Amino acid sequence: MKQSTDFLKMKQNEEKITMITAYDYPTAKLVEHAEVDMILVGDSLGMVVLGYESTVAVTLEDMIHHAKAVKRGAPNTFTVVDMPFMSYHISKEETMHNARRLIQETGAQAVKVEGSGEVIDVIKFLTNAGIPVVAHLGLTPQMVGVLGGYKVQGKTTEAAQKLVEDAKACQEAGAMALVLECIPRQVGKIVQETLTIPTIGIGAGVDCDGQVLVFHDLVRYGVDRLPKFVQAYADINESITTAVKQYVSEVKERKFPSEKHTFTMKEEELTGLYG
Ligand code: KIV
Ligand code: NA
Repeated sequence: MKQSTDFLKMKQNEEKITMITAYDYPTAKLVEHAEVDMILVGDSLGMVVLGYESTVAVTLEDMIHHAKAVKRGAPNTFTVVDMPFMSYHISKEETMHNARRLIQETGAQAVKVEGSGEVIDVIKFLTNAGIPVVAHLGLTPQMVGVLGGYKVQGKTTEAAQKLVEDAKACQEAGAMALVLECIPRQVGKIVQETLTIPTIGIGAGVDCDGQVLVFHDLVRYGVDRLPKFVQAYADINESITTAVKQYVSEVKERKFPSEKHTFTMKEEELTGLYG
C-alpha cells in the first residue's frame, strides 16, 4: 500500500494522483482492482447512498459503518475518511476521540476535514498525534448553509488570495494533501504551484496534482443531474433499468426461470412421492 509520503513523491515526479470515492465493499473492491491511487470514504455518501439533502445529516457512526466495509473491500489502497459535520468543532478532546475511532475502528489511513480558521489547529493537533490529515478548501459542502448553496468559490481577487493563504496554512499545519473543490482553474494552478503537498481537485482544473470524483457520478449510478466538472465514463442507470425491466417482463411472461435455472428430482423419486 502507498504511504502518505508517496503522494508527495508523486507530486515531485509530476505523476498525477487518482482518487475516487467508495462507500461499500463491492465498490471498494472494484476500484482497488482498477488501481486507483487513493480511496475517499466521502461524507457525500449521505446524499449519494443514504438519500439525505446534504452532508450535514451524516453522523460519525455512518462514516465508521461505511469505512469498515470499504476497508474490507480495499485493504491495500490508501483510504481517507471524511470527518462528518460537527465532529471536529466542539472540542479538541471530542475531535481527537472521533478521529481515533475513524482510524482505529475502520483501518483507514487518514482523515479529511473541511475549511480553515479553527480547522487549521485541528489539522495541526491530529497530525501531531500521528493521524495523517487531508485538508479541503474551496467549496466545502458542510458549510452549505453558510455559503448559500453549491457555488464556485474563489472567483474574486480577495477570495482567491484568501484561498491561497488558507492553503499555505493547511500545509504549514501538516496536512498531507489538499482537496480543492469548485474553484477557477487559475486558482487551482496557483495553489498547485505554491504548495509542496499534493493538491487534489474536483472542479478545480487540470493543473491540480491529482483529481477526485464521486464514484456514482463517474459511472452515472443513481444520480440524475451531473455537475459540470464530472465526466461520466459509463451509464449504470441505463444498464440497471434495462436489466430490471427485462427481469420483470420475463417473469410476467414465464420466460424466467428457464430450464437452466431450475432444479429437478429423478422421475422415480417423484413417483414415490405420489405413492
Ligand atoms: O465527500 C466527498 O465525496 C468529497 C469529495 C467531493 C472531495 O469530499
Ligand atoms: Na466530503
